[in-house]
Amino acid sequence: MLARDWYYNERRQVGIDRAVASICGPSDDNDVRARAALTRLGVKPGWRVADIGCGNGVLATEAALLGAQVDAVDISPAMLALADVYARDRRAAIRTQSAGLLSFAYAPSSYDLIVSEFTLHHLPDFWKAVALARIHGALKPGANFYLRDIVFVRMPDGSERDVEQWADFHVKNHDFERDSVVTHMRDEYSTFGWVIERMLTEVGFILEQADYHAPLHGTYLLRKPDKQG
Ligand SMILES: C[S@@+](CC[C@H](N)C(=O)[O-])C[C@H]1O[C@@H](n2cnc3c(N)ncnc32)[C@H](O)[C@@H]1O
Repeated sequence: MLARDWYYNERRQVGIDRAVASICGPSDDNDVRARAALTRLGVKPGWRVADIGCGNGVLATEAALLGAQVDAVDISPAMLALADVYARDRRAAIRTQSAGLLSFAYAPSSYDLIVSEFTLHHLPDFWKAVALARIHGALKPGANFYLRDIVFVRMPDGSERDVEQWADFHVKNHDFERDSVVTHMRDEYSTFGWVIERMLTEVGFILEQADYHAPLHGTYLLRKPDKQG
């Protein structure tokens, strides 16, 4: 899509990098979890994989260590610099791209797998759908998209309890600062799981799995349909 004066400026989120950095701080088992997810997704040597909103590059690095050709995409140059260092320390070759969900460069139908974790909520809903359509266009027919994000499962009368529980859980278990939770609720664009599911199917994905197991987390496994005929 050509840039227009009404086009959403996704770089405005770079301004909240401090909160993002605390969410994205390396934790002990992130690499183990990423490797397990990539193995379940069937990553093979030579696959073209993109991680959009790659943060500090843990998943992108694990994909590269499994032999994939990895594009690590993030809107924040600071996060990409961290990703570069993280990958280099582990002798993994990743290709970083300073761009966002609305602007990453891709050849149509070229990726074997795209992953995006805890990034889509940076866009308002209309732009989420634009981003999802771009991801659909970038995948090969039959390829998977693995999406995780912070989503709401209940209607707003449950929000007080849900959000406080979510904050307590992450402050206790994941060394989150409470401020990062506050920033998320006040300044970012998480939406309902059912809105995300509908967007995903409207842009053409087959929803293979949706999981709302962890507090306020949605995990989705999507497939781009195989070519017709
Ligand atoms: C909460 S972090 C998640 C990082 C990593 N995926 C993870 O799960 O640890 C969100 C990341 O999305 C990036 N980001 C924010 N808006 C973005 C956009 N429009 N396109 C791509 N990345 C974006 C931020 O710079 C940050 O690195």
